[in-house]
Amino acid sequence: MPEDPAPAANSGTASWIAAARARESERADRLFRDPYASALAGTLGRSALEASERASGGENQFLPIRTRFFDDVLEAEADKLDQVVLLGAGLDTRAFRLGLPDRLRWFEIDRPDVFVQKERVLGELGAVARWQRSVVVADLTGAWSEPLLDAGFGVGCRTTWLAEGLFFYLSAELVRNVLADGDDQHVHKPMSEHASCSRQDVPQ
Ligand SMILES: C[S@@+](CC[C@H](N)C(=O)[O-])C[C@H]1O[C@@H](n2cnc3c(N)ncnc32)[C@H](O)[C@@H]1O
Repeated sequence: MPEDPAPAANSGTASWIAAARARESERADRLFRDPYASALAGTLGRSALEASERASGGENQFLPIRTRFFDDVLEAEADKLDQVVLLGAGLDTRAFRLGLPDRLRWFEIDRPDVFVQKERVLGELGAVARWQRSVVVADLTGAWSEPLLDAGFGVGCRTTWLAEGLFFYLSAELVRNVLADGDDQHVHKPMSEHASCSRQDVPQ
């Protein structure tokens, strides 16, 4: 299902989606609660959400459902996982709000401007990640798997990959490139394997 017409800048889209999470969090019958979303969204996110809903003629009910869907997937898979990678993490705060096992390693990949804002706001809010979280600054249309490996991604570990609200913005060719870089570096291969995850290989 397509998203609403999006603001041109990609970092604007992260704020826009955070604004939708903030609004959902305030509802009595909310699907989830993201206590950081409102501060992360800021005025930019709220105006972007307003503008997109004005253009599409109504409230975007899809975004909160998508958030809850992936929350449920992660919670259901958690016991079978060693690590999670968010491609185009944006202002996602699952590492601060979900009740997943402490042993998880968590990697977030996005552009530098997104993380500058995100880390500042989360720091001001005193947010503490619930497990080991690494921020990986990389352009997903380039060689992103190297910085991911440098950040301690464990080849051979059981991994869930989330590309939430990302591929919508990329051409088919760029999506293929994103996936190809992971394949080239063998970071995708172990997705279906789970026996050989070695903690010793993972820099602390
Ligand atoms: C619509 S937002 C979604 C963010 C988050 N997954 C969520 O659902 O809240 C898309 C995100 O993808 C990131 N992104 C888009 N193209 C990218 C690229 N080439 N490299 C790294 N990040 C990218 C943007 O910076 C933005 O944070």
